[in-house]
Amino acid sequence: MQKRGYFITSEGPEGAGKTTVMNLLGDQLKQEGYDVVMTREPGGIMISEKIRNIILDNEHTMMESRTEALLYAAARRQHLVEIVQPAIEAGKIVICDRFIDSSLAYQGFARGIGVEEILAINKFAIGNIMPNKTILFDIDPSVGLARINAHENREKNRLDVESLTFHEKVREGYLSLVDQYPERIEVIDASRSIDAVLEDVYKVIKGELEIIR
Ligand code: TMP
Repeated sequence: MQKRGYFITSEGPEGAGKTTVMNLLGDQLKQEGYDVVMTREPGGIMISEKIRNIILDNEHTMMESRTEALLYAAARRQHLVEIVQPAIEAGKIVICDRFIDSSLAYQGFARGIGVEEILAINKFAIGNIMPNKTILFDIDPSVGLARINAHENREKNRLDVESLTFHEKVREGYLSLVDQYPERIEVIDASRSIDAVLEDVYKVIKGELEIIR
């Protein structure tokens, strides 16, 4: 019997450790025999990586917020069609670092465009494909930003260098999405050690996978 595909996304501010933890989760699931595809937004494939470079270029300070939102949605569309959709249809588990909730929190809420407006342009981009489960790595933005600044080699892009107030709004935006999508979004306290966070994330995802398979 064909296994059902499953779509997991990770969300959160910079420095929440989501990439590290989700990579470890992916490795663990692969070791257990699951067919896992790890990917990220914006990017993952050639066209979307190019759009990512345009959006995040520190020289593009003149980029207007709706332009930014449309570019994220365009990158999302291409990535969805090339990577996410075929993998889900093939019965794989897709783990994607960021998806629509990033646009809702960053562009909709923190940039002030409005969550409904961002939802509308993203509906155009993704149709009715939504994640089955979203892990929100919640952390005080000042702690997250301090973690980034402690790593000299880490890329600091055009959004990383926004003010603390902007990142506080991003967090507020994410937490309001939890009220909007309580079934889908699972909040994890990301201020703890990687091992502790991974343990919680693993429990949530394993529980979900056992239900569908
Ligand atoms: P990353 O550093 O996690 O790869 O993400 C790149 C930046 O892009 C990060 O600051 C969050 C931001 N972003 C948005 O503002 N909207 C979006 O839709 C996505 C996917 C990312």
